[in-house]
Amino acid sequence: MQADLSLEFLRVVEEAAIACAQTMGQGDRHKSDDVAVAAMRRVMDTVPIDGTIVIGEGERDEAPMLYIGERVGLAHTRNGDGERYDEVDIAVDPLEGTNLCATGSPNALAVLAASEKGGLLHAPDLYMEKLVVGPSSRHAVSLDAPVADNLKAIARCLDRRVEDLVVIVLDRERHATLISDIRATGARIRLISDGDLSAGIAAAVVGSGVHAVMGIGGAPEGVLTAAAMRCLNGEIFARLVVSKPEHEERCRAMGITDMKRIYTSRDLASGESIIFAATGVTDGTLMRGVRFFGEGTRTSSIVMQTQPHRIQFIDSIHVRDGDDVKIRF
Ligand code: FBP
Repeated sequence: MQADLSLEFLRVVEEAAIACAQTMGQGDRHKSDDVAVAAMRRVMDTVPIDGTIVIGEGERDEAPMLYIGERVGLAHTRNGDGERYDEVDIAVDPLEGTNLCATGSPNALAVLAASEKGGLLHAPDLYMEKLVVGPSSRHAVSLDAPVADNLKAIARCLDRRVEDLVVIVLDRERHATLISDIRATGARIRLISDGDLSAGIAAAVVGSGVHAVMGIGGAPEGVLTAAAMRCLNGEIFARLVVSKPEHEERCRAMGITDMKRIYTSRDLASGESIIFAATGVTDGTLMRGVRFFGEGTRTSSIVMQTQPHRIQFIDSIHVRDGDDVKIRF
């Protein structure tokens, strides 16, 4: 990507977050998702790119907007204006944690990742086994190693006891064995109802109090996590859960032939120029949720990129109208 699009993408996730935050706690996850999608779609078309959604809301027939393969950006809205725009592949999750927003629970996000063409894996919407760790332990763990070995290795790399580690796991029946294996080591567990993407980002940031994420979650969230890891120097190890012939067919249709392959962040987000942008919808570990204060709105975001390699924590105040609005620190 020639142009620095990071602040353009910031606008996209901020607007999606503001739109769905308005529905927080209303108990309607579909409505929350719909308004986030509509806002993200609207702003995306003002970004100066020739963009293609490679991970989105589903296939064209099941998603009216931000479907896989949809073209977005000024190249399409200003078709024929003579301008040349960068070709950009985009992965979106306009509302990661639809239930979290609908119930007003922590860690709902509006998020996207972008890269030059071909830089994000075109992954089917299946489950994925995941192990996410920070920069210190990324060379010491393996997806196929026993849980106890991985936790010992992480503890060694972080110079602490296994009992002092915090591992995030999605609270799901499928994780019963994983949870009892972690408990047997004495490590601490944070069970979450949703949102393994924000958990993965936390695991790669020193001081977040999270040391690893383990278990099975969505593959699109896995690719978005990989884009974040490329920026944060953390690592995701991941393998698609291909348990039915129909899954295998979907993988083959997307050019995936090795069903047992273990992917790293470089495989899932292989682009040289990666941008990752997320805005908190509800309060979370690294970002606060959207706050409405009558005359305006305040958002908290993280914008990261590999070229230049830069992590920005951005606190924005969106002033609605009027010259008399007072800005607080
Ligand atoms: P949504 O944003 O689609 O609600 O997904 C939230 C999430 O919890 C992800 O963070 C996670 O990867 C996935 O769902 C887990 O899927 P499932 O709820 O089917 O276990």
